[in-house]
Amino acid sequence: MSKDESNALVVEGVCTAYDKANVLENVSLTAAPGKITCLLGSNGSGKTTLIRSILGLTLPNKGSIRFRGVNLTGLPTHRVIAIGIACIPEGRRVFAKFTVEENLRMGAYQESSNAEVAERLARVYETFPRLAERRTQLAGTMSGGEQAMISIGRGLMRAPKLLLIDEPSLGLAPILVQENFNLIRHINEQGITVFLVEQNVHQTLAISDYGYVLSKGRVVAEGKPQELGKTKEVHDAYFG
Ligand SMILES: Nc1ncnc2c1ncn2[C@@H]1O[C@H](COP(=O)(O)OP(=O)(O)O)[C@@H](O)[C@H]1O
Ligand SMILES: [Mg+2]
Repeated sequence: MSKDESNALVVEGVCTAYDKANVLENVSLTAAPGKITCLLGSNGSGKTTLIRSILGLTLPNKGSIRFRGVNLTGLPTHRVIAIGIACIPEGRRVFAKFTVEENLRMGAYQESSNAEVAERLARVYETFPRLAERRTQLAGTMSGGEQAMISIGRGLMRAPKLLLIDEPSLGLAPILVQENFNLIRHINEQGITVFLVEQNVHQTLAISDYGYVLSKGRVVAEGKPQELGKTKEVHDAYFG
């Protein structure tokens, strides 16, 4: 295994079920370090279930998941997160009755050094000047796009090495989707590995380095964005 591979997120032969309903069937994929890797799939294809499997929230009944050479399979969620993984969940929940800054600070709950928290906060405000302007506003009164920024900013407060993002474009106006994806690219350029699961094919492929297609719990295609966008599998996954 090359050094690069050992720093990757590697999912190998993962099968995950809820009770008796099999959802993921033999899923294998790699999110290369420093890159944006996407997993495209329509509603119900199993995208969130894969994120839950990576985080140790739902235990796969087969296969393995490794990150930076550590086998995550079977580890409790807090141990998975401690390795340097943060997740921006579907629906970008914010604490509505807390201010923007309080929401961000909650992302750094494990960090004991005040100086380190202050530095991370400054970095998030640099990425999202809009949040800096609104730091004392209650998060619940912000627009959908701004709440998306809070949610991503909160993930960044953990200074993760790997960011898992679950459908960031869901429910956002088209212009905000583009803005949001530009921000994800910007975050990736700071050296954070991104694993992005999405239904939005074209804008997701436009920012990704590599992509996979999930259909009914199986990976049915993979490749570089330019090639993947043209495949029958992408088309079928949505319209088949
Ligand atoms: N907690 C759960 N219990 C039982 N079935 C679930 C649960 N969560 C999701 N599922 C089922 O698993 C399948 C995949 O869901 P999900 O991973 O949420 O897909 P996606 O994120 O791609 O929309 C769906 O058929 C869904 O109904
Ligand atoms: Mg989902």
